[in-house]
Amino acid sequence: MNQRWAVLKFGGTSVSTAERWRTIAALAERRRAEGLRPLLVCSALAGMSDRLEAMLALAVEDRHEAALAEIVQRHLELGSALGLADPEATLRPDLAELSRLALGASLLREAGPRLKARVMAFGELLSTRLGVAYLDGCGIPTAWLDARTALVARDEQPARARTPRSYLAASCDHDRDEELRARLAEEPAAVVVTQGFIARNREGETVLLGRGGSDTSAAYFAARLGAERCEIWTDVPGLFTANPALIPSARLLRALSYEEAQEIATMGAKVLHPRSIPPLRRHRIPLHVLCTDRPEAPGTIVSEAGPEGGPQVKAVSSRNGITLVAMETVGMWQEVGFLAEVFACIARHGISVDSVSTSETNVTISLDPGANALDGAVIRDLLGDLARHCEPRLIAPAASISLVGRGIRAILHELGPVLEAFEELKVHMVTQSASDLNLTFFVDEEQSERLVRQLHGLLFGHAAESAVLGPAWSELRAGGPGRESGGPGGGFEPGDWWRGRREDLLALAAGRPPLYVYDAETVEEAARALLGLVAIDRVLYSVKANNHPGVLGILHELGLGFECVSVPELEHVLGLFPELDAARLLFTPNFATREEIERGFALGARVTIDNLQPLAAWPELFGGREIFLRLDPGQGRGHHIHVRTAGAQSKFGLAAEQLDELPALLDLCGARVVGLHAHVGSGIRTTEAWGEVALFLAGAARRFPAVRVLDLGGGLGVPERPGQLPLDLAALDAGLRRCKQANPGVELWMEPGRFLVAQAGVLLARVTQVKQKGEVTYVGVETGMNSLIRPALYGAYHPIVNLSRLDEPATQVAHVVGPICETGDILGRSRRLAPAAAGDVMLIAGTGAYGRVMSSRYNMREPAGEVLLAKRGATCTTVRGDEDSGGRNVAGHPPGAGRGRQGG
Ligand code: LLP
Repeated sequence: MNQRWAVLKFGGTSVSTAERWRTIAALAERRRAEGLRPLLVCSALAGMSDRLEAMLALAVEDRHEAALAEIVQRHLELGSALGLADPEATLRPDLAELSRLALGASLLREAGPRLKARVMAFGELLSTRLGVAYLDGCGIPTAWLDARTALVARDEQPARARTPRSYLAASCDHDRDEELRARLAEEPAAVVVTQGFIARNREGETVLLGRGGSDTSAAYFAARLGAERCEIWTDVPGLFTANPALIPSARLLRALSYEEAQEIATMGAKVLHPRSIPPLRRHRIPLHVLCTDRPEAPGTIVSEAGPEGGPQVKAVSSRNGITLVAMETVGMWQEVGFLAEVFACIARHGISVDSVSTSETNVTISLDPGANALDGAVIRDLLGDLARHCEPRLIAPAASISLVGRGIRAILHELGPVLEAFEELKVHMVTQSASDLNLTFFVDEEQSERLVRQLHGLLFGHAAESAVLGPAWSELRAGGPGRESGGPGGGFEPGDWWRGRREDLLALAAGRPPLYVYDAETVEEAARALLGLVAIDRVLYSVKANNHPGVLGILHELGLGFECVSVPELEHVLGLFPELDAARLLFTPNFATREEIERGFALGARVTIDNLQPLAAWPELFGGREIFLRLDPGQGRGHHIHVRTAGAQSKFGLAAEQLDELPALLDLCGARVVGLHAHVGSGIRTTEAWGEVALFLAGAARRFPAVRVLDLGGGLGVPERPGQLPLDLAALDAGLRRCKQANPGVELWMEPGRFLVAQAGVLLARVTQVKQKGEVTYVGVETGMNSLIRPALYGAYHPIVNLSRLDEPATQVAHVVGPICETGDILGRSRRLAPAAAGDVMLIAGTGAYGRVMSSRYNMREPAGEVLLAKRGATCTTVRGDEDSGGRNVAGHPPGAGRGRQGG
């Protein structure tokens, strides 16, 4: 009687192939070895419930023979693949019964819910018959348990009054069942296999638990047996921060409380059925969501404790197909009973309300399609009835977007930047759950996908791994079973060039202060990728991202132009390449002085103007000049609010309404506009951004007949975490080619910075000290925000590895911090590292863009120096020194190491 049970549920895809059944057998053995007795709850083969339902519908018209034969065939095939000697014999009694029921439906010419439940139960009955035969054949003594002898539907209606729901979507008791425990304790077989989805009612008739009901069955069995654990084995390795099918960068949720998991499941995640949680929660049985294809991956653990840590948004969920009803009235103000009346009216129509928001003159409700059969007639009747109390208005199709997590009210202040995603968007209703587990926005359905992406990016794009947040879906998919970022043995990711040059890097770091190292080959590859875009006529490198002479040299060689934002940048480029064709030099200053603009023209650069004032105040500068205009398309994008450069809150560009004043001003000063420019932000990882800018600029160009160039700006993002997908350049190109076809004779330019250099750079710094404070481990390195300010300024994520111990397992979780006197001097939070010791060289990856160029001498500490690593096989390494940098030298280098070229 004192058996320790583990209930393992396997979904449709998990029971559909012989290979997966091998995994099931291995898992059952493993649980036995752990001293647990496994009860396997199995679904029907993938797609089988649909086939059975369709077969029954055909039977009513006596056309079911082929469909039935196909169902039989599918099971016999799996039986053969499982190596059963005579699958037909194994399945014979069930198949005979199924065909009798189909015949019955064809004779009666009808199939009511009672019959439907009986027929559909065969999906699970057949799959479990095969499973038992297979496991027995593997030498694992296995018993077949008819779930209908153990799970009994709650009697909600007397037998006469049963609705289709009582047969097709029943719920069961989940009290502990000593009789069942005793019965199974007497059963000698080591493993018990039973069906998901099915149960019986008090009359002994077969009932179903509704679609997704196998999860619920597993929870019921776990509850009734008092199991030690319940495992849901699916084709997804756990619960994620968003739907991974939509967002590959969605992160694994390692641990959740029951409430959170319930909320995530309810709010749209399809991995887990929401009804499976309450029985487990009641009996405090931990739930593990695991993946049959990756049995070693840790998955998600749902338990009473949930994860450590305070309030946090854990997921962005969405549901489409929502109907909203807005009810306007003035009669409600200080009236008694108005809400009671409208809700009574809604109840009379048998409609369940999901969310509600009220004001003195408006009540808006949302109706969930999952809970209601909302066809046109139902809605029409409801609106007609409601019209007696108020003016009802229908808003559909709508979508709900929910931020889910515990204690959201406590972190509203942190959500400020996230809520910017709703800028310029019609939000029909906002609700905050009374349980403080979700904040939900109702918007038009067509907005939902884009919003989920945007919100997810803002919330999780840069979040560190922690006890709650695991690796990205794409990372798990790319890395094979259980791979965690930062660990050894993973494949090379884009930007991982440094793995192959570890020895070179360790040699460079030896005895030197912190150092940025740039890989020439990676810069070249990125440049070639952009030069390959057919739609783009000119690529100008945005010098601000990284002005290392060696890096500029590579890009110059490849024929790129240069975009500069200051006179020193212009002079730096011209100092390096005195012969540079002025057409390759673009000057894009912002709030510059008259002298700067004058100097830009004098140096021969193309000058971009982004305000009317220079033209009005200094018309003499522009006489006979060809200029570019920087316009503001109105909507900014990018990885952080500080880098979104459009919209009224951004200081850049001319607003559309100012364009009317331009012709007069241009006439006055005698300038000709030959190019239009827009740059909406930096670190953009969706391709449609530039197509939209091109469309906007092409529209504006109609006002300026001399325009030959549309400069779409920079902003091309790169994957920052291992596993994130790179920009789809082919899709970008295709979009822009369409735009070009529509605007013949116009050149398209781009001016990327980050894309060309970010992944080429790593920062090397030695560990100074390691410290433990309570739960937190700090690994201190020689340099911090004085060399790399992006984590502190934008919460940016840069992968960090212990380069000295790259082959050791990443078993330590630590904050990697610098020596600067600021609490924000953190290069990476909660990183998994090979345990670090003083003197180890840490590598901070993806730091080729906006690293050294944004560094400072804060605390009078010199920032890291710079080295360009030549292509493999070449003999030269270029070291950047103090020759042009006003005190930015490479401190502590041997004499001469800081200047010019050096053998390497
Ligand atoms: N063009 C203009 C007019 C720009 O303002 C910028 C960058 C670019 C091109 C190049 O953008 P990119 O391709 O690198 O995204 N410090 C921030 C990035 C600031 C970008 C400023 N403007 C960061 O570390 O993320």
